[in-house]
Amino acid sequence: MKIGCPTEIKPQEFRVGMTPDAAREAVNHGHEVLIQSGAGIGAGFTDEDYVAAGAKMIGTAEEVFAQADMIVKVKEPQAVERKMLREGQLLFTYLHLAPDPEQTVDLLKSGCTAIAYETVTDDRGGLPLLAPMSEVAGRLAPQVGAYTLQKANGGRGVLMGGVPGVAPAKVVVIGGGVVGTHAAKIAAGMGADVTVLDRSLPRLRYLDDVYGGTFKNQYSTAGATADLVREADMVIGAVLIPGAAAPKLVSRAQLSEMKPGAVLVDVAIDQGGCFETSRATTHADPIYEVDGIMHYCVANMPGAVARTSTQALGNATLPFLLNLANKGWKQACEDDPHLLNGLNVHAGQLTYYAVGKALGIDVISPSLALKS
Ligand SMILES: NC(=O)c1ccc[n+]([C@@H]2O[C@H](COP(=O)([O-])OP(=O)(O)OC[C@H]3O[C@@H](n4cnc5c(N)ncnc54)[C@H](O)[C@@H]3O)[C@@H](O)[C@H]2O)c1
Repeated sequence: MKIGCPTEIKPQEFRVGMTPDAAREAVNHGHEVLIQSGAGIGAGFTDEDYVAAGAKMIGTAEEVFAQADMIVKVKEPQAVERKMLREGQLLFTYLHLAPDPEQTVDLLKSGCTAIAYETVTDDRGGLPLLAPMSEVAGRLAPQVGAYTLQKANGGRGVLMGGVPGVAPAKVVVIGGGVVGTHAAKIAAGMGADVTVLDRSLPRLRYLDDVYGGTFKNQYSTAGATADLVREADMVIGAVLIPGAAAPKLVSRAQLSEMKPGAVLVDVAIDQGGCFETSRATTHADPIYEVDGIMHYCVANMPGAVARTSTQALGNATLPFLLNLANKGWKQACEDDPHLLNGLNVHAGQLTYYAVGKALGIDVISPSLALKS
């Protein structure tokens, strides 16, 4: 198969769909890998790295799209890219179609087959191609929060780990899923005094079993949250209610009870945020203040560490990518129902129920698409 990887063109996107390592694996499986020249620069991969891996460098996105059987990307195709997709071409990338009618219509019109990273599943009920980005955002949260806590950045001037004789920072993590667990691990590793709140008892049992000696956990009620937030130097928002906007768990009124210069890091901002005063910010201007409390609410946190994020995403996508290339999408999806769950669009028809429901477009079952 000819696998094409164009340069990402969405503003502030520095990741790339294939690492040189992924390119090498695909080449070793007998595929031809076409990388747009410069595609890896933002993530620290040079054209020479790709050439050494056996890939062929291509001058323009137009040529990549024209030649490739499968396009591998990170972000959803932008309008100009959607025009380059063609009937029968396979697209493997994040799509997030439900809130995006324009993209959905364009993909349907193109006649391509599109598999969305975010809806591929695993047998533990997880989302294996979203998890790596949650791991990155979770681990980044205490790092950006610690920087924001510094006096010159508007924070309380508290060191995460304290020093001998001085207490460490108190960190509260609301939501103990993928983001929350990774955030708590890193905050505890920095020496902070960490408590994780969650509403799922099985999850709390897991956290207690595995991390009981590293950080505390508590059942998430409004009362417990209010008590912990009042005492906190840093609060990390990491809740998720699948398919719904994040619940607002800290109100504006509560900010006045907090310590001046305390920091809120709202990782859940991509689902609307879990603090009433959260509004999405960008890496160019990530921090703002409300009622003396510092807020960090960047909606695409993994972009800050594009190299790590590209490698983490590449590790997760590679086995699926190889199956798609080795077997063709139909056989690969027939053999793996979790990959089939990723199928969103095929030959002008939607194949993902939740997207159809959100956009009022008819849907055919993915298994019917396999037979077409
Ligand atoms: N800003 C970014 O760049 C970025 C990057 C990755 C993920 N995210 C977002 O981070 C959020 C968390 O993602 P995740 O992968 O950890 O999800 P997850 O499903 O693994 O974990 C969410 C956890 O929240 C818990 N929860 C739900 N309601 C709660 C409540 N009221 N109180 C306490 N806990 C509650 C759930 O029980 C679950 O354990 C999502 O909104 C995700 O989209 C943002």
